[in-house]
Amino acid sequence: MEIRFSEEKMNKVREIIARYPEGKQKSALIPLLHLAQDEFGGWLDVPVMDYVASLLDILPIEVYEVATFYTMFNMKPVGKYLLEVCQTGPCMLNGSDEIIDYIKEKLGIGPGETTPDGLFTLKPAECLGACGYAPMMQLGKTYREHLTKEKIDSLIEELRGAAAN
Ligand code: FES
Repeated sequence: MEIRFSEEKMNKVREIIARYPEGKQKSALIPLLHLAQDEFGGWLDVPVMDYVASLLDILPIEVYEVATFYTMFNMKPVGKYLLEVCQTGPCMLNGSDEIIDYIKEKLGIGPGETTPDGLFTLKPAECLGACGYAPMMQLGKTYREHLTKEKIDSLIEELRGAAAN
């Protein structure tokens, strides 16, 4: 697969880079990595990071350092649905460990693993800024809050149904 943004996405890339002063284009790295992750299959393969480096005219290593630092970037392929369960203090005190264990048991996967059907990846995450709704997870662009085992059951069912249609 050729790693290249569409013309529409390239316009977005130019717009993001133009937000920063001349010579400071590296500041556009994080938004560009988000764009790249969305565009190229939900994770950042090395050729994708190299492509981003070329767009910003920086060294690939500068991209690897940032991409591997933040848990919001995936360094290996993920399922169609990425279940990012917060495991930081307030969520932990409200039962995130049990939620994570329940998902592991229900889907037969460990942290960072994907179900064989390619649908679900479990990814424990650090505080997602929604501590008042603990325990919670991020699912794509949405948050699922006050999680319980029952809510996990219906969520998995909902997502399996959505994937089948
Ligand atoms: Fe879970 Fe903050 S601790 S959202």
